Amino acid sequence: MKAFQKLDNFLDFCWAQISRGKADKKSPARYPTFVTSTLNGFPSARTLVIRSYDRKNNQIEFHTDTASSKMLALEDNPHAGIHIWLPKVQLQIQMEVIVEVKVGDITIPYWRDVPSKSKVTYGTIPSPGTVLESPFAYDYTSNQKRFAVLVCDIQAIQLLLLGDKHIRAHYKKTTNWQGEWLSP
Ligand SMILES: Cc1cc2nc3c(=O)[nH]c(=O)nc-3n(C[C@H](O)[C@H](O)[C@H](O)COP(=O)(O)O)c2cc1C
Repeated sequence: MKAFQKLDNFLDFCWAQISRGKADKKSPARYPTFVTSTLNGFPSARTLVIRSYDRKNNQIEFHTDTASSKMLALEDNPHAGIHIWLPKVQLQIQMEVIVEVKVGDITIPYWRDVPSKSKVTYGTIPSPGTVLESPFAYDYTSNQKRFAVLVCDIQAIQLLLLGDKHIRAHYKKTTNWQGEWLSP
């Protein structure tokens, strides 16, 4: 087990895991839980694939369908959460993010890089979440107009590393990611 003595090293470790998630399809860091607030007061959580990350600008990007319910939730409240649990390294990552939603022509350069077999998941008819008569009573289409890029601007990161003695810390953008240890 790693025993971090320095806050910076602990945060570096977090970003190394996210980098691994981007590169390695088997890493659970690739599949965070993305949590939004909904109008009925219940939080809504779902798995999304990390499409890119930028430590320098503290951003993580996801792709989604403009007709999915998370879009309405984000329109109402762009504050969202990201949660990742990495069992091999016993690390939990929690993030508070503010989401900028990109749709329309601005997404065309991103769309070009989406593999063809993934493109068909943007544009399902009827829209995601619609009640169906039977399980396969829908069609895939490939529709750039239904493609959205969610740019998550990270505001805070909280880390919990399990071990003989757990290690917990939080970091905030407002304090330039300086970090503080927390009691686990
Ligand atoms: C492993 C896995 C990866 C997924 N990746 C994405 C993704 O990258 N983008 C996406 O919109 N939905 C993805 N989904 C589907 C979402 O979890 C969710 O069901 C869908 O986006 C509709 O969510 P909403 O109705 O809450 O908006 C994925 C689901 C799983 C199980």
